This record gives sequence, C-alpha cells and structure tokens, in this order.
Amino acid sequence: MTAVPSRRAPFFVRLLLVGALLLLLGGPVSTVAQPDTSQIGEPSTLLIESDTVERDAPFVATERRVARRMLEVAGVTSEDIVYDLGSGDGRIPIIAAKTYGARGVGIEIDPELVAESREQARAAGVADRVEFREKDLFDADVSDATVVTLYLWPEINVELRPKLLRQLDPGDRIVSHDFRMGDWEPDRTVDAGKDKTGRATLYLWTVPKEVPSRLLETGDKP
Ligand SMILES: C[S@@+](CC[C@H](N)C(=O)[O-])C[C@H]1O[C@@H](n2cnc3c(N)ncnc32)[C@H](O)[C@@H]1O
Repeated sequence: MTAVPSRRAPFFVRLLLVGALLLLLGGPVSTVAQPDTSQIGEPSTLLIESDTVERDAPFVATERRVARRMLEVAGVTSEDIVYDLGSGDGRIPIIAAKTYGARGVGIEIDPELVAESREQARAAGVADRVEFREKDLFDADVSDATVVTLYLWPEINVELRPKLLRQLDPGDRIVSHDFRMGDWEPDRTVDAGKDKTGRATLYLWTVPKEVPSRLLETGDKP
C-alpha cells in the first residue's frame, strides 16, 4: 500500500476517532467478530483484524440485516456491480451476489480480511460473482461500479467524493452506512433500525448528470 500522508489524520486524532467509535458502540470494539451461523457467508473462523495495517477506518462490520437494507435502498438488481470500499469480511459484496444476483467487488487494505472474504465467498457459493482486491480504497478504480457502498468516516467520505463523482456514471448510486458526505445532500435518508451502535442510518445519493463543481472539492466540513 502507498500511504498518502496528507489524507491521514495525525495518530492522536485517529486514536480519538477510534475512541469515539468505541464509546458509540458502548464498549470496546472487539477485533474478533462472533460468528452467527444463521446467516449466509458467515466466518468459519474468528476474524482477527491485522494490527499492522495502516487503515482509514477500523474494522466494524455492518450487521447483515442492515447490509441487506443498504442494498435494497440502492435498488440493487442482477444488473448491478456493487463495490464496497473498505469491505471488511466481504459481507456486502457477498450478500449482493447471493441475495440480489449482482456482481460484487470488495476493496480492502487488510490482507487477512481479504483472505477471509475470499473464503466466505467460496462458502456462500458466489466466488464466481465476487472479487476481493487487496488495495487502498483511494487507489481503487471504481469506474465499472453501478453501486458503491461505504461504512467509513464522514471525512473519508468527503475525501472520496470527487473520485466517486468523476469515476461513476450518472444514475449510479452510493449508499453510506451512518455517515454523510459533507454538504452533498442525500436523495434519501433511511432509518434502518436498532443495531449495535444504537440506530443505523443509511444515506443514498444518485450521481447527477451535471455535477456541481463544489462537490468535486473537499473543502466543506464532513
Ligand atoms: C467500518 S469497516 C466496514 C466493513 C464493511 N464495509 C462493512 O460494512 O461490514 C471499514 C473497513 O475499511 C477498511 N479500510 C480502512 N481504510 C482503508 C483503506 N484506505 N483502503 C481500503 N480499506 C480500508 C478497514 O480495514 C475495515 O475493514
């Protein structure tokens, strides 16, 4: 991975952000996700996020029910190519393929999570429809995506916004779990109900034909 120093907050700021997330979750974020065998694509082993990877957001999985709601809100069908930027254990691309017949691509910087995602895709029988790339999401080409899903931080969403608006086509959709994208007003805001963080809120944007130039800048507050 090539680090982009200008984008990364100083270590203590990132520590504060992680601390804030811990508080939001009401307790320590375990790096070990508990398997729930009632759902598809479940980990066959306990997931341990690598502690040597420099990442822009910690690994906290979207609950599967919320992930399905994200895909529903985006109106995903078998015609879609769904990219999850920072794909964690791969659940969103796997659900997109298994439940909606879409193609899925996960971009994830942590090699252990990429390996786990590939194993989950095989276990779910969708390895031919999903792909996981070990990559920094800021370096990923998303131009063939028709739907992009995000569960990152507000400021990372704002940093990503120009790239998404330049590479995606008009009509493509972006859904973010819990975090907005600066002053780009979402087309829809959906309350996805209670989850481990309290309530899950989903934001949907559709790429417009004419992109206002201010959205191609990252100067606004997240
Ligand atoms: C909050 S988790 C979301 C996981 C998954 N999208 C979900 O909703 O279940 C954020 C993920 O982004 C990954 N990540 C953080 N910074 C990244 C970067 N620069 N490039 C690629 N992945 C990154 C983390 O390793 C983590 O798995």
